[in-house]
Amino acid sequence: MDLMQGIIARAKANKQRIVLPEGTEERTLKAADRLLADGVADIVLIGNPDEIGKLATEWGLSHIAEAKIVDPKNHEKKAAYADLLVQLRQKKGMTPEKAAVLVEDPLYLGCLMIKAGDADGEIAGAQNTTGNVLRPALQIIKTAPGMSCVSGAFLMFTQTPQYGENGLFVFADCAVMPNPNAQELASIAVATAETARTIADIEPRVAMLSFSTKGSASHEMVDKVVEATRLAKEMEPDLKIDGELQADAALVEKVGAQKAPGSEIAGKANVLVFPTLEVGNIAYKLVQRLGGAEAIGPILQGMAAPVNDLSRGCSVDDVYKMVAIACNQSIALKAHRK
Ligand code: ACO
Repeated sequence: MDLMQGIIARAKANKQRIVLPEGTEERTLKAADRLLADGVADIVLIGNPDEIGKLATEWGLSHIAEAKIVDPKNHEKKAAYADLLVQLRQKKGMTPEKAAVLVEDPLYLGCLMIKAGDADGEIAGAQNTTGNVLRPALQIIKTAPGMSCVSGAFLMFTQTPQYGENGLFVFADCAVMPNPNAQELASIAVATAETARTIADIEPRVAMLSFSTKGSASHEMVDKVVEATRLAKEMEPDLKIDGELQADAALVEKVGAQKAPGSEIAGKANVLVFPTLEVGNIAYKLVQRLGGAEAIGPILQGMAAPVNDLSRGCSVDDVYKMVAIACNQSIALKAHRK
């Protein structure tokens, strides 16, 4: 896949520091070894150094020695990270006692390292649920300036080159926000367009999906999508976006011309924004399983630094790709901050 080669090449050219909190997990450790061997990222592994060393020897991973290893129970910045956690979450009831426990949790530690500027991004989820990976990231790293929520996008490499960008789509939100309001949905649309540019390397044409096209049905769920489209245009006036559109009107030129005449998106969409998480999560899995699409993600977007969640069924290759994607997200976020 050429796109992934480009993502890996960009990561190699501007190496980022990626923390892997599940440092003793087999697929994670094997991916870390390959990433270090290929020079894709500087890797920080969280875990017991003896255990990591033993596993690396057992699995013949000769490059793990190049990783920085942080023992969550014993490292020189432990007290400083605990203080940082209290400082960030005092108003939410964080006490030094609670922080002393949480700072030993690799998922909290990884996010604290990022917040303190000691790492650029994180990948986890081979062992942990999405909620457990996301919660510390949402509490500590928080949203990027201008973004009202974090969401999860998928790159969908479909078998239908007549649609989207030669068959490639970006779908969101498929992973995070159960029931976004209009403002949050607008934020998801803007963030997904950015993911399309920086990760999928395409110029986004965003369809705000619904069960209605241009007033064909009236319902408060339709009103939300119409309002979100308006707000997204306000947030990014040059963004190519239209809604509300049904999926067929968004994808198929003939249907688009019939149902939404004059729309510059109908029939040409390459970014699909779903009105709720239920729709987005079900849709991506159906397109993947029934349509034979390759799905890469979730790529978490809207966060101040990249934290990407893995499926617990992930492969070594998935971990490798998600690290490369996080590196690209970090490079793009740093460029925006300049
Ligand atoms: N964007 C930004 N911040 C958020 C978001 C969001 N989408 N959601 C929650 N937060 C913040 C809250 O504001 C809060 O911050 P604060 O403590 O500083 O005030 C903090 O995160 C915790 O918020 P809660 O509402 O307590 O969130 P909770 O911990 O209950 O859940 C979570 C957040 C984990 C993201 C939840 O919404 C969730 O489980 N979503 C679904 C995840 C999932 O299961 N996806 C499907 C599987 S993934 C897949 O199939 C690819």
